[in-house]
Amino acid sequence: MRETLLEVKNLKTYFNTNRGLFKAVDGVNLTINRGETVALVGESGSGKSMTSMSIMKLIESPGEIVDGEIIFEGQDLVKLTNKEMNQIRGNQMAMIFQEPMTSLNPVYTIGNQIMEPLRQHQKMSKNEALKRTVELLELVGFANANRMINQYPHQLSGGMRQRVMIAMAMSNNPSLLIADEPTTALDVTIQAQILDLMIDLKKQTDTSMLLITHDLGVVAEMADRVMVMYAGQIVEDTDVLTLFKNPQHPYTKGLIASMPNIDSEEKRLKTIKGMVPSANEYPSGCRFASRCPYRQKECDQVQVLTSITEGHKVRCVLATKEVKDIAATSGG
Ligand SMILES: Nc1ncnc2c1ncn2[C@@H]1O[C@H](COP(=O)(O)OP(=O)(O)OP(=O)(O)O)[C@@H](O)[C@H]1O
Ligand SMILES: [Mg+2]
Repeated sequence: MRETLLEVKNLKTYFNTNRGLFKAVDGVNLTINRGETVALVGESGSGKSMTSMSIMKLIESPGEIVDGEIIFEGQDLVKLTNKEMNQIRGNQMAMIFQEPMTSLNPVYTIGNQIMEPLRQHQKMSKNEALKRTVELLELVGFANANRMINQYPHQLSGGMRQRVMIAMAMSNNPSLLIADEPTTALDVTIQAQILDLMIDLKKQTDTSMLLITHDLGVVAEMADRVMVMYAGQIVEDTDVLTLFKNPQHPYTKGLIASMPNIDSEEKRLKTIKGMVPSANEYPSGCRFASRCPYRQKECDQVQVLTSITEGHKVRCVLATKEVKDIAATSGG
């Protein structure tokens, strides 16, 4: 068994607005082991970003973590002060976002921006920081790292900026890297390069990754384990092979069926009909029921995330019925 790095228990992040209470993250349980890459997938609005922002403790008002624990390297982040959290962010935990330009400062050179946190968090001298900056830029694939340090963000392409962001995120050897749609804003060939880079980093470092994406192709290439999120909850949690070979939740099956398949004769994508319910008006039973082709009367009751086999959890009455029947006949 690998050592647990992050354990999120019953996390609830709500937005209390004058339009109602939006339950963006509503009882999420999630574990990431050391060295593991976990993908978080699901449609727009399902709560993926709010889950990661909660883990980083970057939720802004009117949003608030109202319940749960975020145990990271043995301590509960929910209980930490801002100052303590600042130490963790950019040290043990780092994040890269979809749009790298917004996170880079336009008035400083690339070199300065990477050196700054090294000097601050690792108390490096100017020379040490410069040396490490060149190393980091080489790590993320810049052949001309010595020239790159003098460039300003606007002089770089989107793909290059994302590489710089990854270099900054990796600068303090974080034990956890959170990547929220890191390739979505880039064009297709550049996306592939950034993915290759992330696969390399995964091999070269023991950094765990929480990878947020709506692209199941990316999941297949990168992830060890996958959590499928729907309407603020995890609905399926399993290893990546099982996800594609034996998905259990009807929503997961729908996501897989809507993947573009180059081998298929069928050129039109199957899409899941209907929409994710709004976070201020979830139904009391299964949140996917209104869109589910297998709906039955039990679906009106609350569904819990249940282990169906070792390492495979599902929140669906269809998948768990059989498990309950077996337990009942064996007296368990
Ligand atoms: N400022 C806010 N006020 C009210 N509700 C909010 C606010 N920010 C987020 N939410 C709620 O949180 C939900 C989840 O948002 P989140 O950004 O986590 O979705 P996501 O899964 O990352 O989607 P996407 O794939 O589009 O990035 C939203 O559907 C919305 O209901
Ligand atoms: Mg998002």
